[in-house]
Amino acid sequence: MVVPGSQNPEEQMFNPPSELQKDAHIPDFKTYLQLYKKSIDDPEAFWKEVAQDFFWKSPPKGQFLQYNFDVKKGNIYVKFMEGAKTNMCYNILDRNVKEKNCGEKVAYYWEGNSCDQYRAITYSQLLKEVCKCANVLKYMGVKKGDRVAIYLPMIPELVYVMLACVRIGAVHSIVFAGFSSDSLCERIVDSECSVLVTADGVYRGEKLINLKQIADEALEKCKEKGNVTVKNCIVVRHLGQMTKNGVVSLKLQTPWRADCDVWWDEVMKGSSEECEPEWVDAEDPLFILYTSGSTGKPKGVLHTVAGYLLYTALTFKYVFDHHPEDVYWCTADIGWITGHSYITYGPLANGATSVLFEGIPVHPHVGRFWEIIEKYSVTKFYTAPTAIRLLMKYGPEPLKQFNLDSLKILGTVGEPINPEAWLWYYNIVGQKRCPVLDTFWQTETGGHVLTPLPAATPLKPGSATLPFFGVLPVILNEHGEELEGEAEGYLVFRQPWPAIMRSVYGNHERFENIYFKKFPGFYVTGDGCKRDKDGYYWITGRIDDMLNVSGHLLSTAEVEAALTEYPAVAEAAVVSRPHSVKGECLYCFVTLKDGKEFGHQLAEELKRQVRVKIGPIATPDFIQNAPALPKTRSGKIMRRILRQIARNEKDLGDLSTLADPKVVEVLFNQRCEAAA
Ligand code: PRX
Repeated sequence: MVVPGSQNPEEQMFNPPSELQKDAHIPDFKTYLQLYKKSIDDPEAFWKEVAQDFFWKSPPKGQFLQYNFDVKKGNIYVKFMEGAKTNMCYNILDRNVKEKNCGEKVAYYWEGNSCDQYRAITYSQLLKEVCKCANVLKYMGVKKGDRVAIYLPMIPELVYVMLACVRIGAVHSIVFAGFSSDSLCERIVDSECSVLVTADGVYRGEKLINLKQIADEALEKCKEKGNVTVKNCIVVRHLGQMTKNGVVSLKLQTPWRADCDVWWDEVMKGSSEECEPEWVDAEDPLFILYTSGSTGKPKGVLHTVAGYLLYTALTFKYVFDHHPEDVYWCTADIGWITGHSYITYGPLANGATSVLFEGIPVHPHVGRFWEIIEKYSVTKFYTAPTAIRLLMKYGPEPLKQFNLDSLKILGTVGEPINPEAWLWYYNIVGQKRCPVLDTFWQTETGGHVLTPLPAATPLKPGSATLPFFGVLPVILNEHGEELEGEAEGYLVFRQPWPAIMRSVYGNHERFENIYFKKFPGFYVTGDGCKRDKDGYYWITGRIDDMLNVSGHLLSTAEVEAALTEYPAVAEAAVVSRPHSVKGECLYCFVTLKDGKEFGHQLAEELKRQVRVKIGPIATPDFIQNAPALPKTRSGKIMRRILRQIARNEKDLGDLSTLADPKVVEVLFNQRCEAAA
């Protein structure tokens, strides 16, 4: 299967395994090319055909697809199937239960934080729980278009609530349960949520997190800001359900506010299992999901119903070459877009059986992932490069204790995968028989945009390879000129695919400014990209002020704002430094106010400050004292130089634009040495 080529990853090709090609949906490269051409030449015909697999209460009123990508021609908009009526929840649950006879099929194998917590949920059970929850929300006054904030760990109730929202036409806004109370508050305020759903607490590995307390703090902060939109808070008794025989294993002190809080199990008890879906417009909002913005304020990425349904369903089917007997496992958290698209919507739209995992890769032992793959005979496995790099550190031994023969396809997402990690994943986890799919996409794109197809695309380690159907990538130079052939520059897209975001919630102008203004006529990803001689795409990383830590995007401005809120800090500048597991980590330069002393304790307090303000994912690895920062004469911080200092790159190039070049030497002398 391997065409060894040279050591250069661009030259190394791994052909699709013939075993997989036998019954694959896209069985060879020629079929991919033919279908791709069709999807670009006539997107309307292509997506119309895909839409036939789903239920539409009524057809589109006007044109199937309308869009404008050029700010010079007016407002930016994308509309797929406008005027058609449907319901996403009906399409992915009722139809599987009632029309496709999948009621008894397992939708999710839930696997908890510790190995003795697990259960299976069938499609018909899922539908009942979703309907019950939908009725609870209705009873609380939630209506079509209202926003519901969800701050839950990876438990089945998370899927129940999100689909309950969808069933009644409400818009969910899920906040990753690792975010701080400040981050939760900011998101609730921005989208004016009327209900918050959380849990008493959660164990992440050995660590107990009192979610309800954080949720309460967030609501307190909302109140301080004069925002009191949340009328009800539903609390899932998760830690109270831990053992199989129903015994409450932990007495967690759950703070309670009688005017607002209700226990999930109490409100669900009497709720009806029947709930008529709300028929909504194809272009009505489906959900909001916040992602870091380069100004520091998170952006509420808005996705709409029909396009997102078509695209997540089709990408899941083709990229994971889904077949009914598969057991699929995506290790992401539903709090991120990967979980939305490829744990909830894409898999359910295909009637798939998935693993829903609450825990972490190294608890209670470093072979947990491999144990779960064996336990459920997982066939398709999707994880992040950071997890692969972490598990690589333990060598091949932990894998040898488990049988991984069920695996057929491996996927990665979230950040560039280095060829070394790619090859380990391929050789050790996939035993040289499973294609490794490096899928490139974003919260904004809704689904995979650059990705191999497992039985069709020859692979190159570290390359996201080629575009998915309907996606037309272009590489531009600084002046907005299109580059042909082998080239490197800005990655942009020329035309919409169904799941591209429609707006930034409540701020359409920000949407246009961020994604469409720099290069009129194109959607700008914010990523740099290289195209090789075979036309393969290689993502080179962000070209804006964003950092990718363990596959999570963070903005430097957001972290800097958290640091400068600390009383002793006058100024802060944050850059990335390569990290062997996280990919990148945060290296922060802080200038203290006059009279303040820098020391180990202050550095630790500043790390804590960022953790508390944003969340543990943003904890800096390095804090360096900076008596002054390198600035241009006009006062702009030169991050390029800071990045080079953080990485100990001595050749700094031209420093003539600096107001005071001596600053650089001082910073070099004080840099944090420890290897990341
Ligand atoms: O920089 C790219 C990186 O992650 C960014 C999107 O982050 P987010 O919206 O949080 O979504 C992550 C999960 C889809 C991108 O702009 N990124 C994502 N996947 C890859 C990647 N970089 C390189 N290769 C990838 N496969």
